[in-house]
Amino acid sequence: MKIGIDKIGFYTPNLYVDMNKLAVARDVEPEKFTIGIGQEKMAVPPLTQDSVTMAANAALEIIDEVDKEAIDFVIFGTETGIDHSKSAAVYVHHLLGLHPNARSIEVKHACYGATAAIQMAKGHIALNPESKVLVLGSDIARYGLNTAGESTQGAGAVALIISANPKIMTLEDKSTYLTSDIMDFWRPIYSDKAFVNGKFSNEQYIAFFNTVWDKFKEETDMDLNDFEAICYHLPYTKMGLKALRTILDDVPEDVQEKLKANYQASTQYNRNVGNIYTGSLYLSLLSLLEEKSEDLDSGSRIGLFSYGSGAVGEFFTGVLEPNYQEHLYKNHHDELFASRKEISVSEYEEIFEETLPADGSNIELDINEDPAPICLSGITDNMRQYVNKLR
Ligand code: COA
Repeated sequence: MKIGIDKIGFYTPNLYVDMNKLAVARDVEPEKFTIGIGQEKMAVPPLTQDSVTMAANAALEIIDEVDKEAIDFVIFGTETGIDHSKSAAVYVHHLLGLHPNARSIEVKHACYGATAAIQMAKGHIALNPESKVLVLGSDIARYGLNTAGESTQGAGAVALIISANPKIMTLEDKSTYLTSDIMDFWRPIYSDKAFVNGKFSNEQYIAFFNTVWDKFKEETDMDLNDFEAICYHLPYTKMGLKALRTILDDVPEDVQEKLKANYQASTQYNRNVGNIYTGSLYLSLLSLLEEKSEDLDSGSRIGLFSYGSGAVGEFFTGVLEPNYQEHLYKNHHDELFASRKEISVSEYEEIFEETLPADGSNIELDINEDPAPICLSGITDNMRQYVNKLR
């Protein structure tokens, strides 16, 4: 039975900062951010967007009545969840009006969470071929103003429906993975900003990629010639390029050129959003499918490298289904990008410093400024209040 990605949705908040202007404000050459890091725009979430609302907004565009009846499992990958106990998936389940006979859980391992969710979803569909699983990956990447990580912040979410006989991509069975207890990036329970050993995380990302890629080649009869593209977890778009470059010499020049061109297409969305942590690999896949100027052939094999600091890495593959392009939401995404509003560096700094109360007091937020259908409208008695404006 074929199991894979039936639909992919995406959401990013409506505000962004231009990286050239951030570079000027931070007294660095703009090319460091636009070429050295590879980012053009950085999404800035207003207080009315959190990991729950972004995931729900991403799912809203792809879910129809048939999906609502068939989804019996919601798996929410995040490392910027809103509660230590209740899962973010339950909020989304309610906001979307899904069928009550469902499991709804949250999974965490840094930027690897959504991949763990997809692998779990595959197992569920193998046992329950009639059902569908909603996988969410949603995060706000925060390192802090004037930090080395600042240029790699961002915010957004992806939503994927995993089902039998998928319309976009069948996920193949073979997968190679690796765990190693390292401290390259972490966020203690008491901190709303991540701690990171940036250079070490870059080295480990590449070492993990090389290990799982070599293992994949050893355990299959495939090599780089079998791939149309490789999509990477993209904390910033230069990162995946560094990993790709370590293996390009394995193939002739024309194949190298094809892989590099497809890599560029796979980074367009990420370049304009920033890091969205666990959704970032799937945003890259979406970017490849929607931003490639000529459609890829059905049957094309795409490699996927997932990396979650701390660390877990995985390499797995998917094969495109015929007419996959008819099942994408490219027009929605073009509109989403076109309708965003640029804010100045000082406005971004102000928004960054505005945080929700952490002392149990109530707050009411103005959701009229936020064009998203699903927003956080406040906190009452320690409970986040969510609104779906479409209901
Ligand atoms: N023009 C072009 N490139 C320039 C440049 C210029 N004027 N100035 C600098 N650069 C390049 C550097 O050569 C470097 O490229 P390289 O990595 O290919 O060598 C790149 O820009 C970044 O410069 P660097 O000095 O290393 O940046 P930094 O010390 O400010 O930190 C990170 C970069 C990624 C380590 C930092 O943003 C970070 O910690 N991010 C969060 C962690 C992360 O994303 N980890 C990834 C794995 S999950």
